[in-house]
Amino acid sequence: MSSHADLHRDTLAVALGRPPRTPGAPLNVSPALASTYVGAHDTSGPALGYGRDGNATWTALEEVLGRLEGGRCVTFASGMAAASAVLDLLAPGDTVVLPTSCYLGVSALVRSRAEKFGWVLREVDVADTDAVLAAAEGADLVWLESPTNPLMEVADLPRIGAELRGRVRTVVDNTFASALLQRPLEQGFDVVLESGTKFVGGHSDLLLGALTVRADGDGAAELYEALAAVRHDSGAVPGPMEAWLALRGIRTMPLRVRAAVANAEALAARLTAHPAVRRVRYPGLPDDPGHARAAATMDGFGSLLSVELADGPTAERFVDGCDLWVHATSLGGVESTLERRRRWSGELAVVPEGLVRLSVGVEHVEDLWADLERSLDAL
Ligand SMILES: Cc1ncc(COP(=O)(O)O)c(C=O)c1O
Repeated sequence: MSSHADLHRDTLAVALGRPPRTPGAPLNVSPALASTYVGAHDTSGPALGYGRDGNATWTALEEVLGRLEGGRCVTFASGMAAASAVLDLLAPGDTVVLPTSCYLGVSALVRSRAEKFGWVLREVDVADTDAVLAAAEGADLVWLESPTNPLMEVADLPRIGAELRGRVRTVVDNTFASALLQRPLEQGFDVVLESGTKFVGGHSDLLLGALTVRADGDGAAELYEALAAVRHDSGAVPGPMEAWLALRGIRTMPLRVRAAVANAEALAARLTAHPAVRRVRYPGLPDDPGHARAAATMDGFGSLLSVELADGPTAERFVDGCDLWVHATSLGGVESTLERRRRWSGELAVVPEGLVRLSVGVEHVEDLWADLERSLDAL
């Protein structure tokens, strides 16, 4: 098949990751359910030997997601397995730059490893570009997330990527934006992480993670091999069924993301006007601190937003008062979900007690609004 160099993302999501066109053969890749493969005496060739070595379903998914992110992709068992693989490349005593606020799982993982391996941690506000660049000086890894979970802060990725390229290893957790709205590899970053559990899968029925690195230059090939080796050796491989579901999900990701972003934009504006809401955090709002940056650097403002209510109990009543919206963690599914983030004991103290994160789905916006408004009015 040609490289489809001139095709749009919507088309790439559908056209790539397909088997060769053989008359009578299935149009789709099937889940390759294999823990082992038929052996060869000469093991130096490309033939797969064992389930951890590779899988045709992972390969198909990696072809699609890698192209959307603009590089070469390695899939993992979950977003956290992917994060862990990046950290595995560090040495004892290394210096790591970490956002003051980011996804709590990553924050906890980095902190626990820092303690164990004597890493020096430098915490930065990702929205403060000068602070990020200063902290990156002499560091071994710069970890960024943008927009951040759940405070929705936006980093100046083009400037940071351009300044740090070739100077220090950089990673961007692109889970909130997805490859459709933001492409950090093009901005100069070395590694992009996506929790495929979210927008890629899109139906809240699988766990999967992905790391994508540039296709060439700047030691990209070595980095790709190193990350693939960690996956193989640690066994943090995706299940074939999960990879297959994610491949099925990614076909409609552009449609889903577009619909969800449109819903989020409309809901953010209406939520801002409701008297029970103290603050809406959404980069799509003109007065959001991240608005100008997101407008300049992203292809859309995303479908996550956070609202701040008076306090924790009020936020809980708001969540309980919703009927259509499901009280659940995670994000990026077709169904709209919401949760008070501080219900988790590990959530960072900088997150307000009354903050509720909303993951906007693809239902009709009027039904979504009616449910939110009813619950807010009752507070
Ligand atoms: C921003 C972000 N990064 C990483 C992860 C971890 O992904 P997973 O749950 O697939 O391990 C999450 C999960 O919520 C997330 O929100």
